[in-house]
Amino acid sequence: MKISVIGCGYVGLVTGIGFAELGNSIIFVDTDDVKVNMINALKTPIYEPGLEELMGRNKGRFYATKDYREAIQNSEVTLICVGTPSMEDGSIDLSYVKASAEQIGRSLSEKDEYHIVVVKSTVLPGTTEEIVKPIIEKESGKRAFEDFGLAMNPEFLREGNAIEDFFKPDRIVIGVRDESTRSWLEELYRFFSCPKLVTDIKTAEMIKYASNAFLATKISFANEIGNICKKLGMDAYRVFEGVGLDHRINPAFFRAGIGFGGSCLPKDIRALIRRAEELGEQPRILRAVIEVNENQPLRLIELLKKHVQSLRGKKIGILGLAFKPGTDDVRESRAILIVKKLIEEGARVLAYDPKAVENFRKLFPDIEYASSAEELVAESDAIMIVTEWRDFENLDYRGKIVIDGRRIERAMKEAKIYEGVCW
Ligand code: UDX
Repeated sequence: MKISVIGCGYVGLVTGIGFAELGNSIIFVDTDDVKVNMINALKTPIYEPGLEELMGRNKGRFYATKDYREAIQNSEVTLICVGTPSMEDGSIDLSYVKASAEQIGRSLSEKDEYHIVVVKSTVLPGTTEEIVKPIIEKESGKRAFEDFGLAMNPEFLREGNAIEDFFKPDRIVIGVRDESTRSWLEELYRFFSCPKLVTDIKTAEMIKYASNAFLATKISFANEIGNICKKLGMDAYRVFEGVGLDHRINPAFFRAGIGFGGSCLPKDIRALIRRAEELGEQPRILRAVIEVNENQPLRLIELLKKHVQSLRGKKIGILGLAFKPGTDDVRESRAILIVKKLIEEGARVLAYDPKAVENFRKLFPDIEYASSAEELVAESDAIMIVTEWRDFENLDYRGKIVIDGRRIERAMKEAKIYEGVCW
């Protein structure tokens, strides 16, 4: 199939290259010259394990352009994969989705053949039919579900594992209204053997939010129980090992620690809270999930203060800046809250991450950065582990004060003074 992909962030790029690997031809569209040029030079503008190799292997099956018209004319299906960030008040910013719908609509006005538009960006229930559809219809002069197809197909890719998640998804959710779009999408996903759930469009939109809300709830729940375990002198990991063995519960996403960050969970939960409030609902559980998550990183500082009375002038090493291992993404990373608080307390911050230093430096240009994890360990008065990069298992923590938010076993065994946040 000929597919155009709008937006070359994590979702767009991984999805497009994944479909290229399956034999489709892909045209990427982005407004950013740098991204377009990099993709055409077979380089990835983001760090995602395995992606650049996959790009190299599929050379000739994809290219990138800034020109919507060219992309729509030369494809049968368009996947909207642009970002939906948070506004100041937590509500969802749809400006990129709206802008791409406008451009797609304009391009469709010049195209005679049938075309399918699929929203993959995370959008609140109702958005595809109430916002995207009227924009495309207005700009194209065509009618959805008759002259062109429209669907919502949420993605469930985890950064750092995105390639594997693309090829081996737990499920594929296809939100459609008309038969023709449905059969096109079933054809597009024919190589995947996982369960495929076909729903109406707004149910597909809600499945994405409810999934992310549940994952976030599981983490905050693990952290709340973990905090109680810590006070009682127990290891939360041992507790959740026992809990997760219940098949109704499942062991995944019970890693207690300093909470969730990233480009999806925090923003999606906030957007759902705002929408629920607009509907006159009181989303008590979701609010508590965010509250637990905001407090959790600060527990590391409390634990540090048990061992280092005044932080003023002390050099505190932050091991890990990415919101999780395997990515250079620092969006909503727990490191941000921790570094802010340490600066407030007068500490000198020395930071290190294998991939995310450049992105973190944009937020905190004035703190110090170590050139290696070994240097950070050697030079810090105390160390805080904020991201569980595997390499951190190879460091020598002997004689050190380590406050661990992510459970690095070696530090647990070796450090002179060791505190785990929930263990
Ligand atoms: C998430 C969803 O998992 C994915 O399905 C969706 O499409 C996008 O959002 P992602 O943000 O890439 O993916 O990362 P994820 O692996 O879900 O981790 C999110 C955050 O939760 C990270 O900061 C991670 O450290 C934290 N986390 C995860 C925990 O603290 N404990 C856990 O048990 C699991």
